[in-house]
Amino acid sequence: MIQVKLHNGKFMPIVGLGTWKSSKEDAYRAVLTALKAGYRHIDTAMIYGNEEAIGQAIKDSNIPRKELFITTKLWNTDQGYETTKQAFKKSLQLLGLEYVDLYLIHWFKGYEKSLDSYRALEELYEEGLTKAIGVSNYNVHHIMNIIENCKIIPHVLQVETHIALQNHFLQDYCIENNIQMEAYAPLMSSHITEMLANPVMQELSKKYHKTIPQIAIRWLIDRNVVVIPKSVTESRIIANFDVFDFQIDQKDMEKIKGLNQGKKLFPEPDNVIY
Ligand SMILES: NC(=O)c1ccc[n+]([C@@H]2O[C@H](COP(=O)([O-])OP(=O)(O)OC[C@H]3O[C@@H](n4cnc5c(N)ncnc54)[C@H](OP(=O)(O)O)[C@@H]3O)[C@@H](O)[C@H]2O)c1
Repeated sequence: MIQVKLHNGKFMPIVGLGTWKSSKEDAYRAVLTALKAGYRHIDTAMIYGNEEAIGQAIKDSNIPRKELFITTKLWNTDQGYETTKQAFKKSLQLLGLEYVDLYLIHWFKGYEKSLDSYRALEELYEEGLTKAIGVSNYNVHHIMNIIENCKIIPHVLQVETHIALQNHFLQDYCIENNIQMEAYAPLMSSHITEMLANPVMQELSKKYHKTIPQIAIRWLIDRNVVVIPKSVTESRIIANFDVFDFQIDQKDMEKIKGLNQGKKLFPEPDNVIY
């Protein structure tokens, strides 16, 4: 397992299990399957409604807490200084944990809310209740506002990133500012069939003797982007983690780069209506 080092020295496993749209029962089973397969990183959020089930799976796995990397997120309606703290404590309680490894603001919801919420995150971090903090669905101008007004540069930026929306310039900005980029919807989420039908991905799948999802995950690893594929299917959970025995060569990295269409499947952060 490859880990990346965040700017505070904390390590983050480069592959984690996504759990959006996983029901409580599915999330419980998926997390146990993933931990058995070697995953040590799980991504959830208050809004997914599965924090309690995930907490139970973590407990039942008997894996020492310090070996795990657990992320959860602040939902939009909970943004604000006091409400963020309350929401965080609720997430922690549902997860049954004493701390999380990463707490993210889920979406940008305006500059004032962003700064108020982020200040609460900084305090939770200073109290040791979360070992890293960050934002999700933030563009450069939203992050700049945090950097200009807050004490701690976000450790992580979680954004939609896949072969059709590659975010190279955003990653350059993150690298310049010591922010670790993390890809959500790495398999194109509900549009996965588009990726599976892509001739370049099919060609690379044959060449490397790996499935197309494995190529898509490894391409992000080879860009040093943290990646959190979601599955509730045992065979896929296992296969999506079987990506550490090969590397995509430079020529093929460039071929995949050529697939970028700037195609966004999720809303632009400046235009979120929820
Ligand atoms: N911060 C945010 O706003 C945000 C937004 C979206 C997602 N996320 C996070 O990122 C994670 C990943 O994104 P996502 O869930 O939207 O999409 P994704 O991981 O790109 O794709 C998930 C879909 O691909 C299928 N799948 C997974 N592995 C497969 C394989 N090897 N072969 C064929 N199909 C496969 C899954 O089906 P099955 O489950 O049926 O196997 C599911 O339908 C989420 O779960 C969540 O944790 C964050």
